[in-house]
Amino acid sequence: MRRSELQGGQGSVIPVFGPSGDGGLSGLCAWLKGERAALGELLREHGAVLLRGFEVRAPIDFERVAQAIEPGLKNEYLGTSPRDAVTEYVFSASELPPYYPIPQHCEMTFLREPPRRLFFSCMVAPQGGGGETPLCDFRRVAAGLDPAVRERFERGGIRIIRNYNGPSGGGRFDLWKLKRWDEMFLTTDRATVEAKCAEQGFEAHWGPGDRLRLISVQDALRAHPETGVVAWFNHVQVFHQSSAAAELRRVHARQHDLRSLGLTQLARVVTGLRRRVSDAESLPMHCTYRDGREIPEEDLEHVREVIWRNMVAFPWQVGDVVAIDNFAMSHGRLPYRGPRQVVVAWA
Ligand SMILES: [Fe+2]
Repeated sequence: MRRSELQGGQGSVIPVFGPSGDGGLSGLCAWLKGERAALGELLREHGAVLLRGFEVRAPIDFERVAQAIEPGLKNEYLGTSPRDAVTEYVFSASELPPYYPIPQHCEMTFLREPPRRLFFSCMVAPQGGGGETPLCDFRRVAAGLDPAVRERFERGGIRIIRNYNGPSGGGRFDLWKLKRWDEMFLTTDRATVEAKCAEQGFEAHWGPGDRLRLISVQDALRAHPETGVVAWFNHVQVFHQSSAAAELRRVHARQHDLRSLGLTQLARVVTGLRRRVSDAESLPMHCTYRDGREIPEEDLEHVREVIWRNMVAFPWQVGDVVAIDNFAMSHGRLPYRGPRQVVVAWA
């Protein structure tokens, strides 16, 4: 194997492995199995590893690679992004429209047992810029926060509010569209939904028009289960009602296109209007401190600044596989145009 590296924000480094021979899949999988312990060490240290230049052409190839690194892949998904199964353990990364930026987050931080590891692979690379899956070392974010801001989050914790349409609902305009609850829980049976919510510690409230409100609370930061290093570990960037406009503004500063500028303004208008007509509990999604107090906008902006400073975005190449330590490294998605297929697996 040839080893090189990607330079991340603030001096972070992501190790990259490429083939020294033909890059065949069987050779790669054998090597990964043999080096499992060393790879685990690299993931703990750097948060992510990129495999580039191998013959990973189809989702099933990617499944083999991910399984060679991590035999315990899972396929139950209680996240919020619309996702389709591609193989037994491989899913489309997100079916959200290309113009939606997905802000940085560790996967499913609101679950009792979030995934330990995450894998992405590029089947079709976007052309003409955009569509990256940027990564960010959330341990560096935790360490880089202003101590007063960090303390407010540590003491305050996070309360997430999510409002879902049901099987008969939908069609309402949402810039950040959540799945319907039956798509999220893969059932239309309310008792099953309630049982799954209880398992995760979510409060579930049924509302008029087949709607479901989920309330969950969590700490804002979390220690790595193996290394003990504390990382920023929550979904504020994704769920706070001000996040869409704030993220789009930064996307525009990076991509300089009219679409993101127009969407920034639209997001500002929509979220402004929403705040006037609905209370925090009725927004499609929102976050407060655990006790329901609003998080100051300056604190949220500070967090976003620290995240964007530490982010690393690299253009996808077909066949790329990224392995991520989910308790250390976050991921997101930048808007793009045209075809793009990125798939995901987790453990
Ligand atoms: Fe995600």
